[in-house]
Amino acid sequence: MGIQFDAAARTFTLSTRSTTYQMGLDHLDHLLHLYYGPAIGQGDLAAMYPPADRGFSPNHNADRERRGISPDALPQEYTGCNTGDFRLSCLVVREENGAAGAEWRYASHSIQKGKYALTGLPAAHDEENEAESLCIRMEDSVTGLALELLYGVFERQDIITRAARLVNGGSQTLRLEKAASMCLDLPFGRWDMIHFHGRHAMERRMERTPLMNAIQTVSSTRGASSHHHNPFVILCDRKANEEHGLCYGVMPVYSGSHRTDVEVDQNGLTRIVSGIHDERFSWQLAPGEAFTAPEVILACTENGLTALSQQYHRFIRHNVCRGEFRFARRPVLINNWEATYFDFDSDAIVRIAEKAAALGVEMLVLDDGWFGKRNDDNSGLGDWFVNENKLPGGLSPLIERVNALGMKFGIWVEPEMVSEDSELYRAHPDWALTLPGRAPVMSRNQMVLDMGRPDVVDYLTERLTDLLANNPIAYVKWDMNRNMTDVYSRVLPAERQGEAAHRYMLGVYKLLETLTTRFPHVLFEGCAGGGGRFDAGMLAYFTQIWCSDDTDAIERLVIQHGTSFGYPVSSMGAHVSACPNHQTGRTTPLWTRAVAAMAGTFGYELDLNKLSDEEAAQVKEQIAFFDKHYQLIQNGLYYRLTDPTEEERYAAWQFVDEEQGETLVNLVLTHPEANARPLHVWLRGLAPDALYRVESLDIHGCHAAPQAGLDLAMEGVGKTYSGSTLMHAGYTLPQLAGDYPSVQMYVKRV
Ligand code: DGJ
Repeated sequence: MGIQFDAAARTFTLSTRSTTYQMGLDHLDHLLHLYYGPAIGQGDLAAMYPPADRGFSPNHNADRERRGISPDALPQEYTGCNTGDFRLSCLVVREENGAAGAEWRYASHSIQKGKYALTGLPAAHDEENEAESLCIRMEDSVTGLALELLYGVFERQDIITRAARLVNGGSQTLRLEKAASMCLDLPFGRWDMIHFHGRHAMERRMERTPLMNAIQTVSSTRGASSHHHNPFVILCDRKANEEHGLCYGVMPVYSGSHRTDVEVDQNGLTRIVSGIHDERFSWQLAPGEAFTAPEVILACTENGLTALSQQYHRFIRHNVCRGEFRFARRPVLINNWEATYFDFDSDAIVRIAEKAAALGVEMLVLDDGWFGKRNDDNSGLGDWFVNENKLPGGLSPLIERVNALGMKFGIWVEPEMVSEDSELYRAHPDWALTLPGRAPVMSRNQMVLDMGRPDVVDYLTERLTDLLANNPIAYVKWDMNRNMTDVYSRVLPAERQGEAAHRYMLGVYKLLETLTTRFPHVLFEGCAGGGGRFDAGMLAYFTQIWCSDDTDAIERLVIQHGTSFGYPVSSMGAHVSACPNHQTGRTTPLWTRAVAAMAGTFGYELDLNKLSDEEAAQVKEQIAFFDKHYQLIQNGLYYRLTDPTEEERYAAWQFVDEEQGETLVNLVLTHPEANARPLHVWLRGLAPDALYRVESLDIHGCHAAPQAGLDLAMEGVGKTYSGSTLMHAGYTLPQLAGDYPSVQMYVKRV
């Protein structure tokens, strides 16, 4: 039983396989958070918080005689507003008279089998029939505002989801100025915070710092989850590492402006508040209207960061991603972007496809530039009609030629944007977000469509339906290449302008919901100038997301390492590109580029016709290798063996199948040394008592003279070791030298 209400103790206990989450009602019907952590069963934990009269921590009026009971000191499940808790709040609600206040009291609750759904917002699903849901209804007697706290308990997955719904049950119009999704108070413990920061073409770099006695914020006001701060935060105990230690994850299922604050208060309690960013946000709630704050996915483990990541990987693959591509074999693709940029025609694309097909690539993706007047990035966005100068006769003849090669065809779109120089903008200038009286801020010379407008969403639904219904398109890359400024909607009244940014996201989700439902056999890949919208909200529609515009294999190791903390390998779009690399100018061996891209969905993004015969043969081998290990890589468990913030010499990671029957170890030398130290790895995730045979050890791109130790390592091939030997004694890999060679070791249980 995942959810229990103890009527005598007045506690709610949520139980997953190895965690317990408990809340309790106090004597005034306030809802206190009591515990979230490793499983402890059901005992009432209210006694953990003895009353203590703390100066300057006030009391509810009804508690004025009990000065030890303060909303400012006790762990709260979802804060009120302006009524005695000075820490981070979840809510700011304003009445018509300007007063801002709310004090939540318990009204009712319900427990149901299955997972709650959220209208208009992506949320985890329960196709595998394991979840239970709890709804606790709290009310504020003055405003009549009701708060529905929603909990989804996924027992087997060890995951708890949360969301909040605010319903105006009063008679006046209320204005929400902040409406977080959740608050999580961790009363005891000293924590490190891990977050994933970056910039365009260098996303999700992992950073770990001890929490300060202050508020630390991970946020975006860009109208997108952003390259800059990924909406995912981990708190872990100070000694936690990959294999040990208590860790908590907070992952909003939201793709717009977000904010997660972590505060350490005067008593050492740590509070996390997460949800939509409140800067320039407001939402009018007329009587009877409701507002839903997005879902947050919570995970907890006492077994370290790898276990936490694997919980998220499994949950995203099983319960966030939807549709037939979740577990299906996805095609190895070739994308023409870095091969041609805007400079192509049908024949050029077919030449790329022909070579790719001959080497085993399964799908051709036509990137930006096939539509409107789009010969560079200054024009054409919005005009989703084929540019017949480039593609004579339209898409059909091209798709036929690609299909005739035995390849699928995929296409790029950027529906949420409009170029000033486009038919669409000339016809509908009011469809773009612009501030009255101001020339709009430009970025990549394009503007953002007001996706909060139903007519804009209808137009795009029609255009994209037309594109997908009338062409045999197997895949769509959905891009988004600037952030939101000039946030003002021409169709909202003045008092609702604070809603524009969130309404934009609701419009995007609606469009994606319609298209992914209408075209279930199309594989959708998300993209926002690479990984500028790599989040759980997007993963509800896109089974994979282009990880970064940085295709340099060595930089990718860092980006993919950071991304792996929250997101599975099967969600990370990754390609082999040309050298010198277009972003960094670096040259890496072709095989090493493939090893890096194989830690993602694997594809190519270069003109394969420009490869030498030897390199073309390597591409064939790479695809065969990926094919052979597809299940292990995409559906196996992922282990980080190195941390780029600590180990500069090499990056290593490992895939292990769930049955612990086989593993693939990958290592890339990132910094060759003179008089080099051994490249020794300790394998992870094997069955300690089982015997494993080293089946193969492939050295790639090691053009420098062989180093001592290479032969010895190769002698291990064919030998058998116990799982515990490989995990505790480890294995010394060949002594690589030169520029960025790599090695892959495949080990199988005997
Ligand atoms: C940004 C994407 O990340 C690239 O892969 C490419 O699709 C360009 N946009 C096209 O404009």
